[in-house]
Amino acid sequence: MTGPAGVRLTHWPAPDMAGALAGFAALTYPRYRPVLLENLIGPQPTGTPIAGNCFAVTAHAGDMPAGLALVEGMWEGEARLLSIMVAPSLRRHGIGLALLDGVAGMAGDAGFTRLYCFHNNRMRDVPAFAALLRRAGWSAPALAEIRLTGPAGFTNAIRPHWQALFDRQDRDGYSHSLWADRTQADRDELAALHESGQVEERLTLQDWMLSHADPEVSLLLRHHGRVVGWIIGERNRQLDCIHYTSGFTIAPLRRCGWMIRGLYEAAALQARHYGPDHPARFETFNGNDGMMRLMAERLAPYASEQDCRFRSERVIG
Ligand SMILES: CC(C)(COP(=O)(O)OP(=O)(O)OC[C@H]1O[C@@H](n2cnc3c(N)ncnc32)[C@H](O)[C@@H]1OP(=O)(O)O)[C@@H](O)C(=O)NCCC(=O)NCCS
Repeated sequence: MTGPAGVRLTHWPAPDMAGALAGFAALTYPRYRPVLLENLIGPQPTGTPIAGNCFAVTAHAGDMPAGLALVEGMWEGEARLLSIMVAPSLRRHGIGLALLDGVAGMAGDAGFTRLYCFHNNRMRDVPAFAALLRRAGWSAPALAEIRLTGPAGFTNAIRPHWQALFDRQDRDGYSHSLWADRTQADRDELAALHESGQVEERLTLQDWMLSHADPEVSLLLRHHGRVVGWIIGERNRQLDCIHYTSGFTIAPLRRCGWMIRGLYEAAALQARHYGPDHPARFETFNGNDGMMRLMAERLAPYASEQDCRFRSERVIG
């Protein structure tokens, strides 16, 4: 297949592919290189296992690897663009657009109905990538996940602004206790909460999380004394921070800011126990739009590190 200005495009998997993609390794992220070197086994019908379900389009200019778009087929008819890159000296010649067209055609042929991708705010070439996606008819990037890291002492600065909310929550029956102090009755209530179907699958407490729960900061959240949620913080010794890996409140209380109250209280305990400079890290993703907005608008100013993941997509066919 010929692409723009004599560039040769190849769809992968292809015959005689063994070793053929090694030369393109520099045109994707290190974490995806094993796919090129070992595991490119081709598109599978929808519903097959994810592992190895990758396909790609490459661009050659003469003998030179000029570009690569790499896709992984996912579930429910969706395929994820893992990376797209064009050799710096060959950019703005239409190769990126041709690669995207190529993978969209392959995805459609394999029965996928949607292509999507993520990019991070820390990616070097965001404007070029966003412009390419726009030009290729993808949706505008939308915030899909946000992770903030900052000194736990941000709680001191924020308290005066949130005091009125906290007073209202206290009047409405908010309280918390340390996770480590939970009684048998609390455990029974937690089990009942899970059995009642009120806890979404992705938020279900897992044993591996609990075995890492830091006893100084992990909390049970209560409404008039009854268990209605939790905040689990894990001490990450490598980064020397507390990573808040799980938070839950029952749906009616989310609109009343109970999750953010719980996080606030956990971080305030962290500041007291580990010191105000000790880093707190939390993240949330779509499905919880209110929390994401709150993090982006209200908490981000206190963060020393901000990691945002944006999602774009294109419907195929
Ligand atoms: C993003 C990238 C793949 C674009 O490849 P490319 O071959 O230069 O893109 P194209 O030439 O096909 O551009 C098509 C259109 O996208 C838009 N576009 C691409 N790069 C742009 C830039 N730097 N600034 C503004 N618009 C740009 C333009 O509308 C362009 O059309 P035009 O040249 O007629 O104006 C390339 O810049 C790249 O490899 N960047 C580094 C890797 C990266 O960030 N990948 C994305 C995450 S995996």
